[in-house]
Amino acid sequence: MSTWWQDGVVYQIYPRSFCDTTGNGIGDLEGIGRHLDHLVDLGVDAIWLSPIFPSPMADHGYDVADYCDIDPMFGDLDAFDRLLAEAHGRDLRVILDWVPNHTSEAHPWFVESRSSRDNPKRDWYLWHDGDGVGEVPPNNWRAVFPEGSAWKWDPPTESWYLHLFTPEQPDLNWRNPEVRAAMGDTLRFWLDRGVDGFRMDVIHLLAKDPAFGDVEPGSSLFAAVLDADATHEYLREIRGVLDTYDDVTSVGEVYILDTHEVVDYLGSDAGEELHLAFNFMPLHQPWDAERWRTQIRIAEDAFGARDRWPTWVLSNHDVVRHRSRYGESEERARAAAFLPLTLRGTPFLYAGEELGASDADVPPEMRQDPSGTRDGCRAPIPWTAEAPHGWATAAPWLPFPPEASLRNPEAEGDDVDSVLSLYRRLLRERRASAALHAGSVELLDDLPAGVVGWTRTAGDDVRTVLVNMGEGPATVSGFDGQTVVVAGHLDDEGEAFDGLLRADHAVVLA
Ligand code: NOJ
Repeated sequence: MSTWWQDGVVYQIYPRSFCDTTGNGIGDLEGIGRHLDHLVDLGVDAIWLSPIFPSPMADHGYDVADYCDIDPMFGDLDAFDRLLAEAHGRDLRVILDWVPNHTSEAHPWFVESRSSRDNPKRDWYLWHDGDGVGEVPPNNWRAVFPEGSAWKWDPPTESWYLHLFTPEQPDLNWRNPEVRAAMGDTLRFWLDRGVDGFRMDVIHLLAKDPAFGDVEPGSSLFAAVLDADATHEYLREIRGVLDTYDDVTSVGEVYILDTHEVVDYLGSDAGEELHLAFNFMPLHQPWDAERWRTQIRIAEDAFGARDRWPTWVLSNHDVVRHRSRYGESEERARAAAFLPLTLRGTPFLYAGEELGASDADVPPEMRQDPSGTRDGCRAPIPWTAEAPHGWATAAPWLPFPPEASLRNPEAEGDDVDSVLSLYRRLLRERRASAALHAGSVELLDDLPAGVVGWTRTAGDDVRTVLVNMGEGPATVSGFDGQTVVVAGHLDDEGEAFDGLLRADHAVVLA
């Protein structure tokens, strides 16, 4: 029996950038509520909100200072309850972003932990002594960003704490059962309020190798520092908490670039660990049919062979938007939409991709991201054609993406051939067709170079999808006479397929 998180489509909202209603240049919960109807018209089933908890914002909310409240920048618990009710009233589920690997240095747990070596919360974080007074850290582990050691010297107790991300994000010690119990309570806090699940930030990093030894220079930090067995054990505990609620889900950010290993985090028996896990390998592929065919095959070998449900994602708040990655072509962005929305698995769309948004050009003086690379994809969403595009200020925290006066729901909503209209048609067709939202997938082998395609089947319901990633037009045989039910442009729909596929063009056939 399939569930909403398998059949449905999830839409990621980066709350800072969605819609500002207060005039401070930063999006808020009220602004999300204001645009829920856009999401209903689009046809998604759930929203995932990047972190909205109190935070000093050293990593824009991925540094949490209180897991059980809302940052005043976004609103308060009443505003959240209102948003949840409004979303549920429209049959939209709400997924929160749970950040369990690290807290903010401003979290009261860390404030206590760093205050003395014998504080009861000392062992809630990973403190180790190095050599000398702040001279040599405990080992050679490097932070993911910014570039530098993963250890920070803390003068009050003359010791080092581990931070796999910025120094403002100390890693929790998941070996400590009190930490696990406290983090389980944070899940219950939101589940009791009625949320439908969690996206789980860098969930594969929870347990570190207890030896804390040096890693070979140049080796993958994650492979070397992790204790996967312990992380799997903690995930089973986390699943135990989730399973005391009905119909909730979890999707893990398992940032391991090996799809088979990612699938391990769904448990050795289905239902034991995560419900879903992101598979980022496809996202790292260029616009190349052979590379995509390989990734689809790997995903089916890894997820399908173990009877697990895959996920598909092209863009999020950490990477250059796929339209920009694939060369800025709108045609290509249209064809790309067919990948997550018609492959077997749950699609995760990133706010703005339904408008064909590119990354914003962010001048150096406006950049805020501690990794230095992610401001462009976090640009504000324009809602109307005229500036300030439905924002309560003309000066949002980042500049709008290019062509904001054309690429917004107001302008695109009325245009039957806009990117937005294409996303709506694809989502409608996906919902209507059991083959597309729940069927099996079979990769097609005998296609011309440059074309990747697959057939989805559920009983009598069969859909074939063809995507031409090649440089020029391609002629595909074997499907003549089938009807084009969705195409990159409205004009091509409803016709009998003649086998001709323009470059950067995709079709769903029935
Ligand atoms: C992954 C998140 O997606 C990213 O935005 C964040 O910086 C890191 N985890 C650290 O929390």
